[in-house]
Amino acid sequence: MAFPGFAIGELGRNLVVNPSLELTGDAGRGRKLFATHEIAACSRCHKIDGSGGDIGPALDGIASRKPSDYLRESIIDPQATMAEGYPVEVSPMPPYGVLLSQQEISDLLAYLHSLD
Ligand code: HEC
Repeated sequence: MAFPGFAIGELGRNLVVNPSLELTGDAGRGRKLFATHEIAACSRCHKIDGSGGDIGPALDGIASRKPSDYLRESIIDPQATMAEGYPVEVSPMPPYGVLLSQQEISDLLAYLHSLD
């Protein structure tokens, strides 16, 4: 499957190249960030494979449901578009565009893309 703005490298889903940032995301690093990063703390609010918090929606298979631009925006600017069916007007999710490095965001996106 092709994602606009992304080219999937030879290592398949583990490498996602973002041409606009010219950074290569690493799904393994992204998984670690998701689960253990103090600021990212994604897993405090999101479940994947049954483990994690309940504040946000479970993200299993998210890449097969949402385009990559949406995923990027969800992380960088969570207020921009609310998750479908989500009953709040203001996302409790922090704006990671200012909290994480571009590399960390690329790694997280590579990880989310491995979840389809
Ligand atoms: C404080 C709790 C919290 C944290 C921490 C958090 N999120 Fe969220 N997230 C939410 C909530 C609530 C929503 C639903 C509302 C919205 O769309 O912003 C959401 C939505 C999302 C969505 C869109 C899901 C969909 O089905 O449309 C993605 C993708 C996402 N978060 C990824 C992440 C990632 C990656 C991290 C870590 C960098 C993270 N979140 C950290 C609470 C959180």
